[in-house]
Amino acid sequence: MNVSIRRAEIDDLDGIFRIEKDTFTDYWSYESLYEDIYKTSISYYLVACTKEAVIGYIGMWHVLDESHIMNIAVDREYRHLGIGSLLLASLIDYSRNAGIKRMTLEVREHNDNALKLYEKYGFERNGKRKEYYRDTKEDAIIMWKEL
Ligand SMILES: CC(C)(COP(=O)(O)OP(=O)(O)OC[C@H]1O[C@@H](n2cnc3c(N)ncnc32)[C@H](O)[C@@H]1OP(=O)(O)O)[C@@H](O)C(=O)NCCC(=O)NCCS
Repeated sequence: MNVSIRRAEIDDLDGIFRIEKDTFTDYWSYESLYEDIYKTSISYYLVACTKEAVIGYIGMWHVLDESHIMNIAVDREYRHLGIGSLLLASLIDYSRNAGIKRMTLEVREHNDNALKLYEKYGFERNGKRKEYYRDTKEDAIIMWKEL
């Protein structure tokens, strides 16, 4: 399978929203994603694409010398094939080249797949936000990676 990673363009929004809606119960609206990806000066989004479609995305905010990962998702049909790894590794490379010093994110305490992915790339658990997710009352694990 030929997969490319590149910066999100306006034509990618439908594909990103399709995955977002299919993945998260508390998904971002089409309008919120549009604002975040294309109108927010500190945001940076990458997409993973085949020739036919967007199959994954990752987004962050560049805040001072930190990269705050906002979201990552891969189309269900393409999970466990290394696409999430490709996206995360690409974002780490971009952040390093942009002079960013550290990266951070929040993840649901029971999201084992995501926790494993982040740990594989050197993110370490450091802190919790109690009952951060309103739908399940799960805690958020805060993770950091020094670059
Ligand atoms: C988390 C997510 C982005 C991972 O994407 P992916 O393309 O499936 O990830 P990869 O195939 O690159 O796997 C990366 C690592 O994650 C872990 N992993 C992924 N799926 C796993 C599974 N089903 N079981 C165990 N570990 C898993 C493994 O450590 C894997 O590394 P390895 O294959 O070298 O052992 C994907 O599962 C997803 O979209 N989940 C729903 C959205 C989500 O939870 N986002 C995170 C919000 S914080």
